[in-house]
Amino acid sequence: MNMALSPANEINETEFFRRDVIAGLSKKQKTLPCKYLYDEEGSRIFEQICELTDYYLTRTEAGIFHDHLPHMVQLIGPDSVIIEPGAGNCEKVEPLLEALEEPRAYIPMDISPEILLAARTRIRSQLPDLEVDAHVGDFTAPEAWQGVVTEKVAGRRVIFFPGSTIGNFDPDAARQLLAGFAAHLAAGDGILIGTDLVKDSVVLERAYNDSKHVTENFNKNLLARVNRELGGDFDLDAFAHRSFYHALRQRVEMHLVSLKAQQVHIAGERFEFTEGETIHTENSHKYTLEGFAEMLGGAGFTLVRQWSDRGGLYAIHYAEIR
Ligand code: AVJ
Repeated sequence: MNMALSPANEINETEFFRRDVIAGLSKKQKTLPCKYLYDEEGSRIFEQICELTDYYLTRTEAGIFHDHLPHMVQLIGPDSVIIEPGAGNCEKVEPLLEALEEPRAYIPMDISPEILLAARTRIRSQLPDLEVDAHVGDFTAPEAWQGVVTEKVAGRRVIFFPGSTIGNFDPDAARQLLAGFAAHLAAGDGILIGTDLVKDSVVLERAYNDSKHVTENFNKNLLARVNRELGGDFDLDAFAHRSFYHALRQRVEMHLVSLKAQQVHIAGERFEFTEGETIHTENSHKYTLEGFAEMLGGAGFTLVRQWSDRGGLYAIHYAEIR
């Protein structure tokens, strides 16, 4: 496994976290970067979210892959190299890897070496002929791509980016990220990417305010993490989980609402909250088919095909560099 780009040691990781927390809570609209939701505990809770009836995204995407895999395989063709930024446990890519015609290599990228190692072992045992070349690093950092795309391959390189992960980025940042992906590819290469679609706000809000309160636990884990890692004194019962669809911005926003006027102490700093003041913790952008085609075009891709479920909840897009 390529470990040259593994994250800095733990002292520095905590230091980055401390700086981001202090900077975020010092803003007028308090905010915490959503990437910090996904520590070990947060990733475990997120997996529970993916199994909720209310959270339709994961199973709807899997259904679209299942229904249209032969067409995707035909468009990608033989001898391909599949690159997956933020691969995590690498479970979503498995049906594709199994269906592809003699894929040359699978290159998962993730910040967690432990998760990558376990995934590589599992994929190697299931597909012994496939080369698995795991890269540890943050896919939003250009350095993380060094060595990922090297010598010319016979077939296509395809970036696999499922799960509506792109929805975490503001549209400008999303376009930049996709343009960065495009810069690592050559003519004929492609991207297979999943996005949640704009829909009735009741359905969206139910997905992010689930009846089993798992999303609430997921959101509040961020406060627990600040307490754990930075010695903060957040009272988790004095904050409430709130998610809502902002139609104009086409996104679900996730917040933590202070239930009273209160002070919180973190790493020697003091933060004041008024009653009702919120910490903005995550955005989940929704797209129309036309809107995302435009986004891909703006990033240098040419749309080839879009697939959706019958209910029009979710979409997978395939686009190429021409
Ligand atoms: C992992 C970013 C795709 O936005 O739907 C789910 C994260 N947050 N419930 C999403 C999430 C709350 C999820 N993504």
